[in-house]
Amino acid sequence: MAPASFQQIAALVLRETSIIYEPRKEYLVEARLHPLAVQAGCSSVDQYVALVGVDAQERRKAIDALTINETSWFRDNAPYQAFTETMLPALMAGRTERRHISIWSAACSSGQEAYSIAMLLDQHLPAGWTADILATDVSTAMLARVEAGRYSQVEMNRGLPATSLVKYFTRAGSEWQVVPALRDMVRTRHLNLADSYIGIGTFDLVLLRNVLIYFDQPTRHDILRRIHPHVAGDGYLLLGSSETTLDMPADLTALWDREQLGRVQAHRPAGATNRPVHGLSATASPISAALTGA
Ligand SMILES: C[S@@+](CC[C@H](N)C(=O)[O-])C[C@H]1O[C@@H](n2cnc3c(N)ncnc32)[C@H](O)[C@@H]1O
Repeated sequence: MAPASFQQIAALVLRETSIIYEPRKEYLVEARLHPLAVQAGCSSVDQYVALVGVDAQERRKAIDALTINETSWFRDNAPYQAFTETMLPALMAGRTERRHISIWSAACSSGQEAYSIAMLLDQHLPAGWTADILATDVSTAMLARVEAGRYSQVEMNRGLPATSLVKYFTRAGSEWQVVPALRDMVRTRHLNLADSYIGIGTFDLVLLRNVLIYFDQPTRHDILRRIHPHVAGDGYLLLGSSETTLDMPADLTALWDREQLGRVQAHRPAGATNRPVHGLSATASPISAALTGA
């Protein structure tokens, strides 16, 4: 693709999502835009980039195509283990009256992260407790996928235990669909992490995993600053495994404490006082009961 087209599309993606496409990524941009160019009847990617400049719908499609949506079930495992073994027991100990757990999967991609947590909540929350999971992303195409809760066999093969497949999915043609009981736990909202979070609420756990790596350092720091009021005082923020050692300036280190939970480093609002309560056991929740017909 022509350098001018690359610059135009890179500037658009940066403006709309804060994702940085370095000049050496032309091949990637071209590969991702080529199918859209063909679909739109353009003779080249350069012609398609010109169309994107004047057509809002194509602009949306191009931005969706240029977000990196790599994800999998129970990605990296350790954060999910820390969730059931440490975070959830500690959160429950502090919420015995409200009996509700609220989670935000920020940059949720196609929803595997949100639904992985939903499965664990189903397995570990005792009867009488409720939970909700907000799944947000800048890609409207990804949010539509979360809402549908449908996954290909290839996607199912990436990290989902066989027992969970049997328990939480039904066949839908050549795909698999998440059961309604879990879909009801997850709601979606379009949210650009580089924009305002007003009205989003406060969460007991925020998963901000494998997305900061696409931004420059000032944007990463700005997000970590602005997300702070949206994590409960005794709550947790989980970053991706390669994102936990991001250099933080002094004002950010004053906002966040780091807590090592097994192999996982969580961030917590500074001064969070509750400490881990180990040993929460799996119990049959109302969702399990509904699923098994009990
Ligand atoms: C690599 S996926 C990570 C998915 C999931 N969190 C995980 O760890 O498996 C990155 C996601 O971040 C989203 N994203 C990129 N820029 C964003 C932004 N500015 N605001 C919100 N989401 C963004 C992309 O659309 C993509 O779905």
